[in-house]
Amino acid sequence: MARESWTGRIGFVLAAAGSAVGLGNLWRFPWMTAENGGSAFLLVYLGIVLAVGVPGLLAEFVIGRRSQKSPVGALRDLSGSRNWGHVGLLSVVAGLVLLSFYSVVGGWILRYLVASPTGAYFDNPGAYFGAISFGPTAAAFHVLFLALTAGVVYGGVRDGIERATTVMMPIVFLALIGLSVWVSGLSGASEAYTFYLSFDLDAIQASFLDIVLAAAGQALFTLSVGAGTMITYASYVAEDRSLPADATLVAVLNTAVGVLAGLVVFPLLFSTPGADVETSGPGALFVGVARAFSELPVGRLAAFGFFAVVALAALSSSISMLEIVVAYLVDERDRSRQEAVVGVGAVVLVTGTASAFTPELFEALAGPVVDFVLTTGLFAFVVFAAWVLGGDAIDEFVRGTQFSSGLADAWRLLVGVVIPPFLAFTLLVGVFELLGVTLPSWQLGL
Ligand code: PFF
Ligand code: NA
Repeated sequence: MARESWTGRIGFVLAAAGSAVGLGNLWRFPWMTAENGGSAFLLVYLGIVLAVGVPGLLAEFVIGRRSQKSPVGALRDLSGSRNWGHVGLLSVVAGLVLLSFYSVVGGWILRYLVASPTGAYFDNPGAYFGAISFGPTAAAFHVLFLALTAGVVYGGVRDGIERATTVMMPIVFLALIGLSVWVSGLSGASEAYTFYLSFDLDAIQASFLDIVLAAAGQALFTLSVGAGTMITYASYVAEDRSLPADATLVAVLNTAVGVLAGLVVFPLLFSTPGADVETSGPGALFVGVARAFSELPVGRLAAFGFFAVVALAALSSSISMLEIVVAYLVDERDRSRQEAVVGVGAVVLVTGTASAFTPELFEALAGPVVDFVLTTGLFAFVVFAAWVLGGDAIDEFVRGTQFSSGLADAWRLLVGVVIPPFLAFTLLVGVFELLGVTLPSWQLGL
C-alpha cells in the first residue's frame, strides 16, 4: 500500500499546528508564566522558542520529509545504522509518556465541558480538576478522551487526522479571539493585563537558571518538538514546499494562541474577587477559571464554549501523540493502522488510568519525565540532522524555497553546534536538581 500523505499544505500545517497548539498553550503556559515571574518569563521563553524551538522543529521536518518514515525508520534508513534506529525508539516512549498524562488532563477538561451546561461544578470547581480530582471519575473521563483521540487516528492521515484538525483549528483560533474580546469587558480586566504583561526583572534575577530551565521545557513541549511527532507528520509530506516557512507559521500560530490564552484566562481569574492567581500546582488555573464562570452572567454558556475550545485544542495534540506510536507499528511492525490504534489505545488505557489515580505518577510524568524525554529526543534529532544528514539536510531545508544555502548553513550551525550543548546543559542541571544537588554559584544573579 502506498504511504499515506496530506492532501496539501493546509492539511500539513493545520495538523502540525494542531499538534503544537494544546494544553501547553492554554493550561501549562499561563500557569507557568504566573509561577515564574509573569512577562519576565515570557521574554526568556520567546528567546528559547526562536533560538531552539523553531530550529528544532525544522530539524524534525527535514528528517521526516527526507525519509518518508516515522522516527525509528527515519533515523535508521537515513544513517544506515541500526543503532540510530534504536535511538528513534525514544519517540515511541515519548508518545506513550505524553499520552499517559495528557489524556488525564484532557479528561478533566471533558468533565468540565459536559458539566458546564448545568453548572454542576459551580459549587465546587476544585473537585473536578487537578489536585483533588484524581480517582475513578478522572479515570473514566480519561478513557473517553482517549477514545475520541483513537477514533480520529483510526480514520487515517487524510480521512482522520487531516479532516479533524482542519475543522478544529480554525474553531480554536476564532473562538479564542472571541473570548478574549468578551472578557476584556469584565471588571478586573486591566488589573489582569497588568499582572500578565507587566515586566518584573527581579523575578528573572532571583532564579535565572530555574526560569531558563522551565522556559526550555515549556518551549519544547508547546511546539511538540523532541517527541518525533513532527518527524512523523512531515513524513506524510511528499511534495516540494518550503519547510522553513511551514515551521515558522506553526510557531507563530502556537505563540499567538499562548498569548491569547493568557488574555482570556487572566481577565477571567481577576473577575472573581479574592481569586488567588498565584496558587501553585497543576489545576489551579482552570479551577479559578471555572469558579469565575460560576459568577458571571451567561457563565454556563461561556464555560461550555471555553472548555470546548480547550478540549478541541487538547484533542488535536493527543492525536499527534498517538500517531507517533501508531506510525511506528505500521511502518516497522507490519501492523494495520486499525490494529495499531487498538493496541496502543489498550496500553494507554492502563498507564493513563494509573496516572488518573496517582497524583505522584501524574506529576512525575507531566513534569521531569516529559522534560527529560523531549530534551533527550530533540538532542538526538538535531545532532542527527546536522551531523549525520549533513549536506542532505541542507538540500532538504532549501527544497521548495527561494533560499540559497546560506540560511540553511546558519541553521545547520545552530542545530549542530549551539543547540546540543544548550540541551545537554539543561539536562544536566535538571538531573542535578532532581537529585537534590543545589548549585548556589549557578544562581547567576545577573
Ligand atoms: N504541543 C502540545 C501542547 O502544547 O499541548 C503538547 C505536545 C503534543 C507535546 C505532541 C509533544 C507532542 F509530541
Ligand atoms: Na503548544
